[in-house]
Amino acid sequence: MSLPGLAAADCGLRGIRTVQGMTHALSARQPVNTATVPHRSPFRYPGGKTWLVPQVRRWMDSRPTKPQVFVEPFAGGGSIGLTVAAENLAERVVLCELDPNVAGVWQVLIHGDAEALARKIEQFQISRENVIAELNRKRRSPVNRAFQTILRNRVQRGGVMAPGAGLMRAGENGKGVASRWYPSTLARRIRDLQTYRARIEFIHGDGFDVIESYKNDPEAVFFIDPPYTAGGKRAGSRLYEQSAIDHVRLFELSASCAGDVLLTYDNAPEVLELARSAGFATKPIAMRSTHNAEMSELLIGRDLSWVA
Ligand SMILES: C[S@@+](CC[C@H](N)C(=O)[O-])C[C@H]1O[C@@H](n2cnc3c(N)ncnc32)[C@H](O)[C@@H]1O
Repeated sequence: MSLPGLAAADCGLRGIRTVQGMTHALSARQPVNTATVPHRSPFRYPGGKTWLVPQVRRWMDSRPTKPQVFVEPFAGGGSIGLTVAAENLAERVVLCELDPNVAGVWQVLIHGDAEALARKIEQFQISRENVIAELNRKRRSPVNRAFQTILRNRVQRGGVMAPGAGLMRAGENGKGVASRWYPSTLARRIRDLQTYRARIEFIHGDGFDVIESYKNDPEAVFFIDPPYTAGGKRAGSRLYEQSAIDHVRLFELSASCAGDVLLTYDNAPEVLELARSAGFATKPIAMRSTHNAEMSELLIGRDLSWVA
């Protein structure tokens, strides 16, 4: 999980990052220190892929030409798509998300009054009482609804926005609901986004339809990070409201794309089997879970020779 508020120390070299004077070579076997990666998303997203940013830079670097369009059909917190847009790694980026609340935030960030949202975040007086009052209010304007979603994402346990997740009590440092509320960092990320949002299109809809609409375009590349529910895994269904995915269809559709595809899944036997049936290569990659445990996820694609 990302560490909001930490400044990025990106030395600008692909595959090598400098952290407090130390140099780390990028490796699929060593989890990336996410403090070394710029955090651009205002979401604190379960299953967020900030840790994959260095590998995605390598992927884009390995390509003979800059892609015309980078498609992220299951955007969630959109950490990868935002990086691609901010670092100009593709001509344009298409983000798609099905969840109406998450989508509502993206609509404001990419196509709406994002400055009003940033100001609302800065002005909110955080307290348990104010949070409960705000979350219970019937909100109609897109900016107010986006604000509620961002607030919920920051004050519910684990950043989970699905119903049933309670408010943080003690929080991580005894600060309760305020422990993950960083108004100036959030406002800065939202304002930074305004400087590159012209390269991004957001679609509220089904990621499958978006893949379909670009699948014959050889200049389109796809980063596909669906909810993990393959093999009866429960994580995806607990974390997201939208978690029912036809994984067999998703692998078939991904394999039919004319352009390059990269999928990420949990490293499980049934996923390896789905990848093998679709003719994809797989590589495990080390990451740290929300609870700081070292785990591995799976990168899946046609040619993964660029993975460090
Ligand atoms: C694993 S998360 C993506 C995390 C993201 N890569 C990040 O870094 O934050 C998967 C997302 O897919 C969304 N989703 C589920 N079904 C979808 C569908 N059919 N179309 C588009 N999005 C969908 C979920 O709401 C969730 O936000």
